[in-house]
Amino acid sequence: MHQETINNPKKSSEPIGLRLKVNGQWYSPRSAPTTRLLDFLRRELGLTGTKEGCGEGECGACLVLLNGEIVNSCLVLLGQCAGQEVTTIEGLDAQVIQQAFVDVGAIQCGFCTPGLIIATYALLQRNPRPNREEIQQALAGNLCRCTGYQKVIKAVQVAADQHGRG
Ligand code: FES
Ligand code: FES
Repeated sequence: MHQETINNPKKSSEPIGLRLKVNGQWYSPRSAPTTRLLDFLRRELGLTGTKEGCGEGECGACLVLLNGEIVNSCLVLLGQCAGQEVTTIEGLDAQVIQQAFVDVGAIQCGFCTPGLIIATYALLQRNPRPNREEIQQALAGNLCRCTGYQKVIKAVQVAADQHGRG
């Protein structure tokens, strides 16, 4: 028995690898479980729509959905995502929201935009008709250096109207 284990280590001792789903597809990462989810997405999968701003959970540029809930991917380790489902801006069905941001001019440099769209998507999923205060609360974790937020709030209102009509 002992001899068989030594000769065929895969049979008895191969660890069950970390797997996670990203944008509907299962992956077995090469990255270590201690890798930040942000780095795995950008460096290993090439999903560069998820941005790194502060790296400290303060700016929202790195937002993704983890099992449908928004998380700062700079604060989540790959090992925490075992068996979980991650959705990035590339995998989000958010054309209505994106178009609203374009139409009202809520995108300037665009660095914050993926995170804002993820936050807006999550808001409209749980509250399709948010008022201004609810929008401000939902986007409180997203920093934008360019727009002054007024057009961003307008874009969310337009997206909610379109959402309601759809
Ligand atoms: S980069 Fe993650 S919150 Fe700023
Ligand atoms: S559009 Fe430039 S940071 Fe928001």
